[in-house]
Amino acid sequence: MSVNPDKMDLPPRGELFDFHGVSMTHYFTDNWENVQNFQARPDDILIATYPKAGTTWVSYILDLLYFGQTALERQTSIPVYERVPFLELTPPDSASGTDLVNNLPTSPRLIKTHLPVQLVPKSFWEQNCRMVYVARNAKDNMVSFFHFDSMNMMEPEPGDWNNFFQRFLDGKMVFGSWYDHVNGWWKKKQTYSKLHYMFYEDLIEDTGREIDKLCCFLGLSPSAEEKKQITGGVQFDNMKNNSMANYSTVPFMDFKISPFMRKGKVGDWKKHFTVAQNEEFDEDYKKKMKDPTLQFRTEI
Ligand code: A3P
Repeated sequence: MSVNPDKMDLPPRGELFDFHGVSMTHYFTDNWENVQNFQARPDDILIATYPKAGTTWVSYILDLLYFGQTALERQTSIPVYERVPFLELTPPDSASGTDLVNNLPTSPRLIKTHLPVQLVPKSFWEQNCRMVYVARNAKDNMVSFFHFDSMNMMEPEPGDWNNFFQRFLDGKMVFGSWYDHVNGWWKKKQTYSKLHYMFYEDLIEDTGREIDKLCCFLGLSPSAEEKKQITGGVQFDNMKNNSMANYSTVPFMDFKISPFMRKGKVGDWKKHFTVAQNEEFDEDYKKKMKDPTLQFRTEI
């Protein structure tokens, strides 16, 4: 299906408001009672990220690891956002994330969330579910988020780059502050052993190595042939050209403004940050990122 946003009624852009201390729009809180009371199963796998950190990439890797060989029809007919539903999303005129998860026919269920750790429904912890957290360096994450908010008509109006830059530093983004998000999940990892914390930059550097680590965490042992297929299938250009992975079937994204699979690079921030912004960012970053054990790379 090709997308033509000119021809359809687009949902209104979400407005930010404070939700339990986190900036959110109603698209992620309308179904909150069902989200909060969501009943996780022990074999559910939660994929958690701050928006634009590589969620789709890791979701697709996990989907291929679990179902690439068995559920072949799934690979050609079901887009990744239906295979790995977004738990807290309530899109207009279509099923909520909780409904999609509850109707998944396969197991384990792969579930996407952008929630900061303190808002994750408690049954995931009670059921001791496995969780995969993906983090991306703040500068590239911010740039990717800016382009995403420009093209996704359900997101708040991004404003111009300078304005967006300031809002990011202030944590006034959907799902709140990047700094709180990555730090909160990192802290959780110290006490919750079933959390695998990974980095977008590592995946770029060596996708095969990171898939091996994921398999080790999940207790999977794909054959060399399967692993080769998966590593190839999830390379940027292959996902960009795959309508089941590139979000081209989503009506409220305007690909004329920006594709969802935009660049897939480390260091694109250098094309966006001014020298002054970079200095301001680095100064502010030092104040907010105090844990020396959490280190990000902004270039490779
Ligand atoms: P860019 O906007 O920098 O290109 P999310 O899935 O969390 O929304 O993240 C989207 C970002 O991940 C986009 O970043 C997208 O291009 C990038 N991405 C998705 N699949 C990728 C892949 N296979 N390889 C590298 N980057 C990928």
